[in-house]
This record gives sequence, C-alpha cells and structure tokens, in this order.
Amino acid sequence: MSQDLLSSAAWQRIHQFSADKPTPCLIFDLPTLREKYAELERAFPFADIYYAVKANPDEAVIRCLASLGANFDIASIFELQKLQTLGIPAERMSYGNTIKKASDIAFAYEQGLRLFASDCESDIRKLAKFAPGSKVYIRVLTEGSETADWPLSRKFGCQRDMAVELILLARELGLEPYGISFHVGSQQRDISSWDAAIGKVRFIFDQLADAGIQLQMMNMGGGMPAHYKQRQQDIDAYGSAIRRFLEEDFGDTPPRVIIEPGRSLVAEAGVLVSEVVQISTKSQDSLDRWVYLDVGLFGGLIEAIGEAIQYPLRWDREGGEDEEVIIAGPTCDSMDILYEDHRYRLPLNLQEGDRLYWLSTGAYTTSYSSVEFNGIPPLRSYMLGTEE
Ligand SMILES: Cc1ncc(COP(=O)(O)O)c(C=O)c1O
Repeated sequence: MSQDLLSSAAWQRIHQFSADKPTPCLIFDLPTLREKYAELERAFPFADIYYAVKANPDEAVIRCLASLGANFDIASIFELQKLQTLGIPAERMSYGNTIKKASDIAFAYEQGLRLFASDCESDIRKLAKFAPGSKVYIRVLTEGSETADWPLSRKFGCQRDMAVELILLARELGLEPYGISFHVGSQQRDISSWDAAIGKVRFIFDQLADAGIQLQMMNMGGGMPAHYKQRQQDIDAYGSAIRRFLEEDFGDTPPRVIIEPGRSLVAEAGVLVSEVVQISTKSQDSLDRWVYLDVGLFGGLIEAIGEAIQYPLRWDREGGEDEEVIIAGPTCDSMDILYEDHRYRLPLNLQEGDRLYWLSTGAYTTSYSSVEFNGIPPLRSYMLGTEE
C-alpha cells in the first residue's frame, strides 16, 4: 500500500471524517488542494495557472482555487456560467475546447470572454463572426500519447502547417493571433514530451514571425501527473525540466506561458470511500475471487476503463494474509469490471460491508459519474476544511 501519497495528518482527517458518511462518496480535502497549488506555483513560477474545471467542478474547489489567484480553463458555457455564479469574471477564463457551437461562442463573448482555443477553419470563422477581435490560440497535435495514461491529442489539434495557416486566417478575419497550445496527454509520464511540443511551437512562432506576426503566448495545457499506484516524478521535476526546454528554445525571451492543470492539482486531495457489497467465486474450485463494490466504472471510476488509471487502495482490516482478486462495480453491465488483468491484493479475511478507500480520486471522478445508471445517484462528495 502506498503510504506517502497523502500526509498522515490528511489521511487521519479524511478517514475519521468519512466514518459516518454513507458510501460511495468522495471526501475532498481542501488543505491538501492548497498545498498542491502552492507546490505547483513553486514548480512553475514562469507560468499563469488556468485550472481545468472539468477535472473537479465542485463549487468549493473552484472557490478555493479562485481565492488562491487561479484563472480557469473552461470547456463549455455551462462551466462559464457556473464560474460566473461564483463571482468569477469571464476575463479570468480561457475557452479551451476547440469544439464549440456558434451560439456558445456568441454567449461567451457577450459575457466578456476574449480568449479562445481553436484548431480548424470552421471554428476560426465562427470566432471571427461571433467573438470579433478576440484573442485566439491554435492547438497543435503532439506526439507522446503512448506514454500518457489518458491520451488526448488525436481528437484535438492540427498539424503545424495548418496552425500557421489558421493564424494567418485569424489575422485576416480581424481576430487577434495570440499563441499556440498543446496538450501532451493526461497523466503524461514522459517529461520529454514537452520538449518536442515546445520545439514545435518555436517552429510555428518563427514561421509566423517571417509573415510579420509576433505570437505572444504558449499554452502548455495539462498533463502533469498525479501519484497513483505507480509513483511519478514530483511536480518540481516537471517544472524544472520544462523551464529548461523553454530556455533551450526561446532563450531569455520566452512568450507568456499558460498551464492548465487538472489532475495534478486535484487528484491527490480526494479519497473515494466504497463498500464491499459481495465476494464470490464462479465455481467451488475456482481460485478467482470476485470482489464487488458499491462503486464501479459508472459511479466515478471510469478512468479505470482498460485499467488505464490504477488508484492506490487502502482498507481497515489489519494483518493476515492477502491474495489477488478481481474487483468489479455494482451495475448490471458486464463492462463494469474495474481491475481483472491488474490484480490488486486484498486481505483474505475481507468481509462484505468492509470499506475500501481509493486514494488520488479527486480528479475526473464526480464529474464523470453517471446520473442514474441502474438507479444509482451521482457520486456524492463532501468537502473537508475551509475554502480560504
Ligand atoms: C484543454 C485541456 N486543458 C487541460 C486539461 C487538463 O489536463 P490534466 O488533467 O491532464 O492536467 C484538459 C483535460 O482534458 C484539457 O482538455
């Protein structure tokens, strides 16, 4: 079991607080979030932070990050409206989704949002029409999806030649060509992915400089990892390597740098508390024990699909032997199996009714949990600590 993911004070606090809460639920520790934010600021002093709201859109998380000075990367007008109801002005937001309806662009513009991502001609034309004069940045495709546990690049972004053409088109249509963005894939284990991406951005900057356009901003997206079952390099290692790549390509005149962390900020602050519903085997002589929980792929752990993200797991039962098990969710969908190839070891004397604690589940759990599949309500979350 990983003992060093949460401080032992945070673990005690979360464990104790969860004791009388019905499962499944996410306990989110705001003091841990504040620590993660401070670490990130220390590691990336050269970047402006735009929190990727989709990772955990809980109001308390947003208010806490807003009070720490974060800006926000939004994916839809619904996130925009949510932030507005919390008193965050559209000027502190970047519309990072390259897939937008014309009406969404018009609405965002009316609200005062002036910073948009794009990756194709039709979107640039919509932006020119419904968000005239706004700053645009073009997302480019990146390599490295094999080393990201949750790859993102193929669906979004364009080739670098097209990025140049889109910037030229943006200028022609009266938009403000502002910069280039990329996302090297979420939970990116290979820091050198940023090296290649930054090199690509440099190339585009140079091509556009030749055409008389001086771009000002590079948006590096998210991708910095959280610690799961397998520990990753700390955020400092990412910050210092990325700073070195920047210096190599841009010397002492780097552009404005934006980062859009989601997972790396909020994952480790969350613990998903679940209960063992049933333990069984498929025949009297089978050695495969199936452990069914009250949470599965549809209740918040969708990132376990393909066993991509392997969360650290704790339980209360002490001592004794353990053995490998198959872990599955509670719904009537045979896809709802969490881990079968990767075998977690659980105590042999594990009982129905025992609790299992999934660490590092503060990101992409509540926002992904289904609304009513099999009648099960969305994953409930409880906030621990104060927002400011
Ligand atoms: C545009 C954009 N920015 C940032 C993020 C956050 O990435 P991560 O959670 O890897 O930090 C995402 C994730 O999907 C994204 O789509």
